[in-house]
Amino acid sequence: RPIKILFTTMAAALLATTAFTADPIPADLRAMALATFKALPSTTPAVVNNPITPEKIVLGKALFFDPRVSASGVFSCNSCHNLATGGDDNLETSIGHGWQKGPRNAPTALNAVFNIAQFWDGRAEDLKAQAKGPVQASVEMANTPGQVIATLKSMPQYVEWFSAAFAGDADPVTFDNFAKAIEAFEATLVTPAPFDGFLNGDDAAMTSEQKQGLTLFMEKGCSSCHAGTNVGGNGYYRFGIVEKPSVDVLPEKDEGRFAVTNTSDDLYVFRAAPLRNVALTAPYFHSGKVWDLKQAVAIMGTSQLGEALKEEEVDLIVAFLNSLTGKVPEVAYPLLPAETGGTPRPVW
Ligand code: HEM
Ligand code: HEM
Repeated sequence: RPIKILFTTMAAALLATTAFTADPIPADLRAMALATFKALPSTTPAVVNNPITPEKIVLGKALFFDPRVSASGVFSCNSCHNLATGGDDNLETSIGHGWQKGPRNAPTALNAVFNIAQFWDGRAEDLKAQAKGPVQASVEMANTPGQVIATLKSMPQYVEWFSAAFAGDADPVTFDNFAKAIEAFEATLVTPAPFDGFLNGDDAAMTSEQKQGLTLFMEKGCSSCHAGTNVGGNGYYRFGIVEKPSVDVLPEKDEGRFAVTNTSDDLYVFRAAPLRNVALTAPYFHSGKVWDLKQAVAIMGTSQLGEALKEEEVDLIVAFLNSLTGKVPEVAYPLLPAETGGTPRPVW
């Protein structure tokens, strides 16, 4: 019997220690979280003015992986939004046409469909508007809509795929339809994560550290900017609203949304970054200057909240951010249509 008592005392002591060292997790954590965040839907989300069909998805996937959409024949969407590495290129800022280094870090294409608008400054209203950008950007694909269409029309398999995806159209191979097909494919790039499991009612989906981190993320005020389905991507805020980060992290020449709206209030305003899969998408910020997620969180503490977060707090918040790493859908690498004599040659 003394042994049994000893064990009971030890167990009680152990429980007490755990209760003392761990930060409290509110009993109504799920309800609190559901007031701020939304779990991913279990089916492909609908998009405005572009009904998603299997035919559009097949075509959009081919276009996403086809480097011949770029003038040089070198860069596909997947070059900079590599679906095997978190939907981005893991570079400070992207490398594009003629080895040029672009001005901003590439955000992930995963779950981008849930952002209120696309790009760090929100200048494209949706994914179909967005898809027309990189093709023409001189530092990305450096192509023209006319040349893209000539390239696609030169390959009979593409003409067939466009005709199947846009059956009602007299001339299905257009730049608008190119963008719509890519949008349809991107809408399938949804990555359910442990956080969704938790929101949907599974207490065991997140560890207690992750739950403590979620609690802190809400209590400290991170979730006043990073909320909704994408835990961000939902609104615009000045980067450095309380304290301007160093010019290295926030270079002066990138004026953010000011370039879109021309309003002085929008100087250095950026879209709150969507944080799903953030553990996979270093380096961080539009400048891509920060490689360590802990450091990125600490910078947010000082720049956006005016608070020097303690190391344990940063660790717990990072644990929560890890619960946003989701399951990337299986994407079989597509076989692309063969070129013909009429396919425009690559240009440098
Ligand atoms: C932004 C898709 C090609 C680099 C984006 C976004 C999407 C996307 C959805 C916005 C994500 C967000 O705001 O969260 C595509 C598609 C492409 C393509 C469908 C092919 C048609 C490329 C290429 C590069 C690139 C080839 C690199 C050379 C970037 C960069 C941004 C971006 C740097 C951020 C630009 C800014 O905010 O100003 N892309 N992308 N993309 N992409 Fe791409
Ligand atoms: C970016 C986390 C608070 C607005 C980021 C990034 C992380 C992060 C990790 C970089 C994501 C990436 O590059 O992909 C946090 C955490 C917070 C917090 C943990 C609380 C401690 C806030 C608040 C605001 C805010 C309160 C709004 C006032 C932004 C904006 C960006 C951003 C605008 C983009 C910055 C850029 O231009 O690069 N956040 N955030 N964040 N966050 Fe926060």
